[in-house]
Amino acid sequence: MATAVAKPQRASSAPKVRQTQLLIDGKWCDARSGKTFATYNPATEQKIADIAEGDAADIDRAAKAARKAFESGDWPKMDARDRGKLLNRLADLAEKHLDELAALETLDNGKPLRDSRAADLPLVIDCLRYYAGWADKLTGDTIPIRGNYFCYTRREPMGVAGQIIPWNFPLLMVAWKWAPALAAGCTIVMKPAEQTPLSCLRFGELALEAGFPKGVINIVPGYGPTAGAALVKHPEVDKIAFTGEHRTAQIIMGDAAQTLKRLTFELGGKSPNIIFADADLDAAVAGTEFGLFFNQGQCCCAGSRVFVEEKIHAEFVSKLVKRAKARKLGDPFDLSTTQGPQVDQAQFDKILSYIDKGNEAGAKCVTGGKRWGKKGFYIEPTVFDEVTDDMPIATDEIFGPVLSVLPFKKIDEVITRANNTCYGLAAAVWTRDVGKAHRIAGSVRAGTVWINCYDVFDAAAPFGGFKMSGIGRELGAAALHNYTELKTVTMNLD
Ligand code: NAI
Ligand code: MG
Repeated sequence: MATAVAKPQRASSAPKVRQTQLLIDGKWCDARSGKTFATYNPATEQKIADIAEGDAADIDRAAKAARKAFESGDWPKMDARDRGKLLNRLADLAEKHLDELAALETLDNGKPLRDSRAADLPLVIDCLRYYAGWADKLTGDTIPIRGNYFCYTRREPMGVAGQIIPWNFPLLMVAWKWAPALAAGCTIVMKPAEQTPLSCLRFGELALEAGFPKGVINIVPGYGPTAGAALVKHPEVDKIAFTGEHRTAQIIMGDAAQTLKRLTFELGGKSPNIIFADADLDAAVAGTEFGLFFNQGQCCCAGSRVFVEEKIHAEFVSKLVKRAKARKLGDPFDLSTTQGPQVDQAQFDKILSYIDKGNEAGAKCVTGGKRWGKKGFYIEPTVFDEVTDDMPIATDEIFGPVLSVLPFKKIDEVITRANNTCYGLAAAVWTRDVGKAHRIAGSVRAGTVWINCYDVFDAAAPFGGFKMSGIGRELGAAALHNYTELKTVTMNLD
């Protein structure tokens, strides 16, 4: 970890930005208004490119193109198996351009290139291939009903899917949204996050190269209250799939009421990570570090409330602090860097304000707590000890490299405290006692529970939230239900 690194190995530097326009009906174009917005490199705070800024007029064009492509042309005529082939072709192209896409992600988001290459891109490719396999397997049932009738169900594509994604895993969120929608036969209008539009736009080019018919995938970068809200309100859009903050989801739910859109939400969390005294301590410490600091702490499922059994509290904290200090901050293109900058000034300011709140509330900052360096939105890996349940750092989603340690004594106590939150996205438990592990798994109100591991994701395993962490599930077979309507057909046999 902290051992001397001989020579910083810098991989390919800034990749070429090839695409900055909107994708509507198979063509790249400027926004109607002619407006653009800048996207920045968070490691240098310098502008990378100006991007076409879509708003209501462009969303309207995109939604109409997606509607037309859903109802006529090549897409609705295509065999399900051929839809799967297109998804596989897109996966092949992602594989072929893996280095370029990973570098684009690192440039725009700031995440270490080693992570873009080893985590984001392989997960993107896997997700596309997984749903490619589903395209021709969306079957219905035959149902024995009373009387002489033949009754069966069909799973039909829901229609035009509006998809709004955040900036923390830009291309992976594209894959999580596009793959099940396309496998199901929907068409798409996507609004990428204003902080990180680049990889999505490049992926739009690759989708056209793969052979998706025009209008099936439309991309409109822009801001939330303009482009995002217009997408949510558009009458030609049948559903909204959103990932981001729960407060934004509340606005979207209100805006969607007029057209009664189907909604799926994948929102934030304040996930409890519970360490019992009988755990493999070194594994628990390593998993805790990864569970919070991975991706600069910008994970919806970050294990930000670390409950540690009192007996091992001191030893755990000293080992954790050692690991936090050994994290290597720096140029995200340097392959030895393990922590890059936060995505932008707003997130950087928000995180520092939470560190202030932690100090003011009387938590003990045992490492970090400050900006790192003079340029770029870097924040030191920060650990607060002696945190109590009511402090803002223990209740609010910080979305940065700030970890809270909360000591506990009894299993019943820790279950109650773990559930004392409006969120319910994920949880983890570290113990060698199988009974304890399953007791926690069964009683923590969260969509995912990891036992002796953290952040294990797979395209086949459903992911989503209880309570205010979301509605519906992504990944796995579950996500296909977000993009299909169930139709019942009954035929008189007399
Ligand atoms: P956000 O929820 O505002 O943004 C996510 C997406 O929603 C972006 O594409 C944005 O343009 C869009 N959006 C914003 N307002 C909208 C509206 N009225 N209608 C339709 N779309 C809209 O999140 P933001 O501002 O980027 O981050 C703020 C906080 O949210 C973070 O500090 C973090 O706590 C949380 N967050 C959680 C994420 C998660 O994966 N759970 C991802 C990103 C942020
Ligand atoms: Mg950016």
